[in-house]
Parts: sequence; C-alpha cells; structure tokens
Amino acid sequence: MDEKEIFKILLEVIKNSYSPYSRFRVASAVMCKDGRIYTGVNVENSSYGLSICAERVAVFKAVSEGCRAISRVYVISDHSKPIPPCGACLQVISEFSPEGDTEIIMLSPTGEAARKRLTEMLTTLFKGEILQDRITVKK
Ligand code: THU
Repeated sequence: MDEKEIFKILLEVIKNSYSPYSRFRVASAVMCKDGRIYTGVNVENSSYGLSICAERVAVFKAVSEGCRAISRVYVISDHSKPIPPCGACLQVISEFSPEGDTEIIMLSPTGEAARKRLTEMLTTLFKGEILQDRITVKK
C-alpha cells in the first residue's frame, strides 16, 4: 500500500477518534515488517488518565494480531501541523522496533509530512535486554 492510500485511510479513520474531552482528534497507522497495516484512534475516558493515544491503539491492534516488528508508524491529528507521538507511545513502539529504526511519519491534515527514526526521537531506549537475566517466560 502506498503512502497516498495510507493518508486517505487516515483521513477516514480520524473521524472515529473518541475525544470529547480534549477535542483533539488523532489517528495512527502501523505498518508491520510483513506489510500488514493496522489503524487506531485516540480513545478518551471521563476518568481522564485512562485515555489512550491513537498510536498505542494501533500498535496493540497489530501486536494482538501477531505482529512483532513494526517498520513504520504514521500519525495524523486535526492540528494544522504534523505532531509527534508522545514519549509513552515512543517507548511502546520501541518494544517492537528491533533495531530502533522504525520510521515515524508525522502528517498534517493537508499532507505535510515530517519523518524521523524512532531512535532520533527517543535517544536512550529502555530495552527488554536490560531485564534479560530476570525474564523467565518467552516473548
Ligand atoms: N494524543 C494521541 O492520540 N497521540 C499523540 O501523539 C498525542 C496525543 C491524544 C491523547 C489525548 O486523547 C489527546 O490527544 C490530547 O492529548
């Protein structure tokens, strides 16, 4: 699937954003290493802290369908400029970014794009290897 198609899908998906509290709509698409694509939107809650970002929804959908390596993460919002994923989302993405080289593509509603590698945005990763000597279950 090419980027124009993904952009079109994101413009549709962002309509599903459930953001009555912030009124800030966000949509994301995750591309797995094998080419599969999963989308997500931010889902807020009246108990504000339970809200979740669009990127994490998309990542969790992908992972729950068996994806373990993410090559790209797209993010779009209804802000006029491209927005970056928050730090929590970058950390979650890093779990499924074996070399830390996942490409983050930040889009505006008009199609303006900014691109960065995950490790440019989150320079010191807390990776699972650090826990290696404590892990007793297989991933
Ligand atoms: N949000 C995302 O979904 N992704 C981001 O990259 C930044 C923020 C959401 C969380 C919340 O629902 C709203 O945007 C305002 O912070």
